[in-house]
Amino acid sequence: MTSTPYLREQPTETPASTPSPEPHKGRTHGQQAGVSRRGLLGAAGAGLAGLAAGAAGGFALGNSETTSSPQASGSSVYPFYGEHQAGILTPVQDRLHFAAFDVITDSREELVQLLKDWSAAAARMTQGLGAGELGPTAGPYAAPPDDTGEAIGLPPAGLTITFGFGPTLFRKDGKDRFGLADRQPDALRRLPHFPADKLNPQKSDGDLCIQACADDPQVAVHAVRNLARIAFGRAAIKWSQLGFGRTSSTSTSQATPRNLMGFKDGTMNLKAEEPAAIDQHVWVPTDADSKGGWLTGGSYLVVRRINMTIETWDRQPLSEQERVIGRTKAEGAPLSGGEEFSQPDFHLKANDGEPLIAADAHVRLVHPSSNGGAKMLRRGYNFVDGSDGLGRMDAGLFFLAYVRDPRTHFIPVQMKLGLGDGLSEYLQHTGSALFAIPPGLAEGEYVGQALFA
Ligand code: HEM
Repeated sequence: MTSTPYLREQPTETPASTPSPEPHKGRTHGQQAGVSRRGLLGAAGAGLAGLAAGAAGGFALGNSETTSSPQASGSSVYPFYGEHQAGILTPVQDRLHFAAFDVITDSREELVQLLKDWSAAAARMTQGLGAGELGPTAGPYAAPPDDTGEAIGLPPAGLTITFGFGPTLFRKDGKDRFGLADRQPDALRRLPHFPADKLNPQKSDGDLCIQACADDPQVAVHAVRNLARIAFGRAAIKWSQLGFGRTSSTSTSQATPRNLMGFKDGTMNLKAEEPAAIDQHVWVPTDADSKGGWLTGGSYLVVRRINMTIETWDRQPLSEQERVIGRTKAEGAPLSGGEEFSQPDFHLKANDGEPLIAADAHVRLVHPSSNGGAKMLRRGYNFVDGSDGLGRMDAGLFFLAYVRDPRTHFIPVQMKLGLGDGLSEYLQHTGSALFAIPPGLAEGEYVGQALFA
């Protein structure tokens, strides 16, 4: 073993005259810190723990070289360790590689070892290091490298890696595979069949999941690829999805992006700057039925691969497009008036007596006031997976939402959308999965450790 960990990025000299701008405004929950190349190098010598702690503390590393736009430079680093897993409240990065895995071993010990190996590799990669200690080119010549190499020279790019456990990890075909059946929370069941679902089993479900988000697609792909490589013989990718262009904001410091229908998406999303609402709607509370409390402080991740019939949508008049969403396309303001962040008024009527926001408008049906106050933390991405050979794009929204309980915060909402959402005429749900997202971990622990205790 080498004493100096392999560092992805090559050392570069930063001019001594580099200005020291103000720390980046709008950083949330101490999660984001701009870390320079030199900062990373110094930290690599000090070890991973120092780096993670430094990044968590914000600007402890490379402070004088911080750029005012860490996202633009790809130098954002988020700590891997913490109370909650990163990649939930973290300001949504621009790229996604999501993968669901089948566990292919029957051994509980091998499963635990896999989670240990994954945790160690994820801790390294999120800090801009290689997946293994030796790196892509310095290991024994006669053995495969412990890192695949395509991220050599790339910055950390704000990589977060979030792990989840599907219902089938606990029980599959009635079988208690790993002695975990009595710890399966009641809320962790396969999502029901919703009206108009057209699910592809090859893009649905899974025993384990990994959500890798980064501002550079190659960094996200490198993360999943190396974790899949590490899993060899213990877990195999069941399906995966690439995403580009976030379709929500999870921080007030982020501008609202647009989905492939051209509308602003994420305006009314839960934001990290609302900790009371996050506690209420995202984190699993202590008193929840989480069978041993192992999920306390964690969450549930709802995954829906939603195809858009883009070609049909693109032939609709602007008036119809705005009607089915319930907001203006330009600004994202509710059709009842005001600006983007104004609350919609669902009672206001036009001169003809019809509500300004239609009865079947998407924003009416999903609004918390129509759903017992339930809110969700959306974190989805656009996707285009080529075309179907008939001139139609295989494109849409890879919907990801974190909720404290899918039975109250997602299932009734989706049931309502499936039955009466004007938007669903232009959508087809082609993939579906639900995962329990264990809480965060401390250094020396592995993800989901409390489940196996
Ligand atoms: C391709 C499918 C979808 C598209 C294009 C879409 C689009 C939008 C748009 C444009 C908004 C308004 C801006 C905003 O507040 O973010 C919105 C809001 C919202 N959507 Fe969707 N959406 C889709 C699927 C879903 C699904 C499946 C759910 C959950 C079952 C959902 C839940 C929500 C919620 C909770 C809001 C915020 C409502 C509020 O608090 O006012 N959406 N969506």
